[in-house]
Amino acid sequence: MIEMTQVSKTFGGARPAVDDLSLSIAAGEFVVLIGSSGSGKSTLLRMINRLVEPDRGEILVNGVDIRRQRPEDLRRRMGYAIQSIGLFPHWTVAQNIGTVPRLLKWTKARIDARVDELLALLHLDPAEFRHRYPHQLSGGQQQRVGVARALAADPDVLLMDEPFGALDPVTRGALQEELLRIHALSGKTVVLVTHDIDEALQLGSHIVLMNQGRIVQQGRPLDLLRRPANAFVHDFVGRTEIGLRLLALDRVAGRLRPNEAAVGEPISADLSLREALSTFVARRVDRLPVVDDQGRPAGALFFSDLLERQL
Ligand SMILES: Nc1ncnc2c1ncn2[C@@H]1O[C@H](COP(=O)(O)OP(=O)(O)O)[C@@H](O)[C@H]1O
Ligand SMILES: [Mg+2]
Repeated sequence: MIEMTQVSKTFGGARPAVDDLSLSIAAGEFVVLIGSSGSGKSTLLRMINRLVEPDRGEILVNGVDIRRQRPEDLRRRMGYAIQSIGLFPHWTVAQNIGTVPRLLKWTKARIDARVDELLALLHLDPAEFRHRYPHQLSGGQQQRVGVARALAADPDVLLMDEPFGALDPVTRGALQEELLRIHALSGKTVVLVTHDIDEALQLGSHIVLMNQGRIVQQGRPLDLLRRPANAFVHDFVGRTEIGLRLLALDRVAGRLRPNEAAVGEPISADLSLREALSTFVARRVDRLPVVDDQGRPAGALFFSDLLERQL
């Protein structure tokens, strides 16, 4: 889907921002680019939609060199959401979301319908929010509209640069869940930049860890946690937190004993094992009752089973 070969970009400083980097992104993948500040993540992302032109190397999207495509056409096919340059302040929510559909000359009725559909998808009541201006929204609502705008013309690829950066943990968690849901429903290819390892592990099906413009390691979240390639990766995934982060990757549903029961307030089968561990510690019990998403008893989770099976 996206094939980058030996791509480099230097902005004038001594060191390249992106340094002879090759990366292959399969269709439908949720790729997270992670690394500390200045490691070249945003530059790499912006080269995919030609906001930045590489000095060297080649980028193919669906087999076609992006230099052979007009930047405007390319950008209309790729949703782009960023933290800092938010929404157009003098445009309503509806006008903001309709930006690309208007460029594509959709009819007004089709744009209106699409705006309402996306607002509903992101849990914003269309009647309430359609006509608001960005300054009349909370930070979390603005970011939702930013994501809706990126999705508007139903692009195959979604490029997101720290889209949930400035949010409180609760709103951030809710938006992460929504993005995962949208990805699962739509099968779009997502490339998301973050510097937050927990966000990367939660969202990514494929994680690319960068340092100084190069890839240090890439793979599934599990690969980075269980087999860090070197001391840099080991530090980055958080040496002392690795156990907890492994638990965060799995849900109660995969570990519970269906034919057992336990007393107390039940936990959801959808909870992560990390959250379940926290509940065990807080309640000082060794088993917890579990319910499914309909609230029906689903079995019990045993504390000892958190340690049992190898992931
Ligand atoms: N437009 C630009 N002009 C000059 N230098 C830039 C520009 N964009 C990025 N850089 C430099 O390139 C390096 C990588 O930046 P960036 O890709 O933004 O990193 P990250 O997103 O990982 O924080 C940094 O040293 C940054 O200062
Ligand atoms: Mg950046």
